[in-house]
Amino acid sequence: AAVDVSDYNVKATLPSRDTVTINLFGATVTSWTLASGEEQLFLSSAAKLDGSKAIRGGIPVVFPVFGPPVKDHATGKLPQHGFARSVLWEFLGKNTSESRSGKKGGDEEVKLDFGLSSGMLPEEMRQKWPYEFGLVYSVTLGKDTLETGLHVQNTGGEVVEFQALFHNYLRIQDISQISIHGLSTSPCLNKTTSPASMISPSSSAEPLTLTAETDRVYSSLKPSDPITVQQSDKTKFLLTREGLTDCTVWNPWQKGAEGMADFEPKDGWRQMVCVEPGAVSGWVRLEAGDAWEGGQVIKAD
Ligand code: BG6
Repeated sequence: AAVDVSDYNVKATLPSRDTVTINLFGATVTSWTLASGEEQLFLSSAAKLDGSKAIRGGIPVVFPVFGPPVKDHATGKLPQHGFARSVLWEFLGKNTSESRSGKKGGDEEVKLDFGLSSGMLPEEMRQKWPYEFGLVYSVTLGKDTLETGLHVQNTGGEVVEFQALFHNYLRIQDISQISIHGLSTSPCLNKTTSPASMISPSSSAEPLTLTAETDRVYSSLKPSDPITVQQSDKTKFLLTREGLTDCTVWNPWQKGAEGMADFEPKDGWRQMVCVEPGAVSGWVRLEAGDAWEGGQVIKAD
């Protein structure tokens, strides 16, 4: 596999011609293309790619808090979705060790590692969340697959509580032709009502189709159960997870897209759906010195 590093971007190309591009601001995957050249992720054409704002599209990494922080929690002073998606990460290099899928690195796949530690954070962020940590984010590109994994180590002397999530903006042809399978047996928090309301598994529709602004957090999912996104009854994406029992489904719809300055084209919401595996409905608690890992594999058809 060929790996090019230029202007804050790391791009890997497999002999099969699958590619992935990661922007060091947020270690955000901004593009994933298959051998056919077809893009798999939605990236807003107005996304800021210079670190001035979290990147609107691709796969932002959410850490150490999801959504608006709860004021009385240790993450309470942080911005929405935490800091990992907007700070500069370090490229640790191409890795050929065994990946989570068990295959050896080499010509069929390439694993790129990115690092972020507390010492690399801007002083202002360190003050808002004064914990010592080390993150290694791994992006593995295979033929028709993209795998992301986050390894979190508590390098300090006190307990750390965090949430983590992969904010996948999946590119689709038309939101009206999409159905999402594998979620409905789990309880779900509907965030489009005020206050947010629970939808019980018995009253939730399988499969999920989207007909209006959607912002849901499904919890207690079995990590072994895949989630599929079907387009006109054909599987477009198959997501499997490790260590992640929650999954958010989000689409801002027309009005939401209009309200976001960095969302372009304005009708782009029709070509995207966010399906976001994570650990967000509670807190992951890490004792001093302990480590945690969560991951996903997205298979495109
Ligand atoms: C989703 C949340 O994950 O991200 C939504 O569930 C939120 O509530 C969306 O609106 C986008 O967030 P942001 O901070 O990138 O605008």
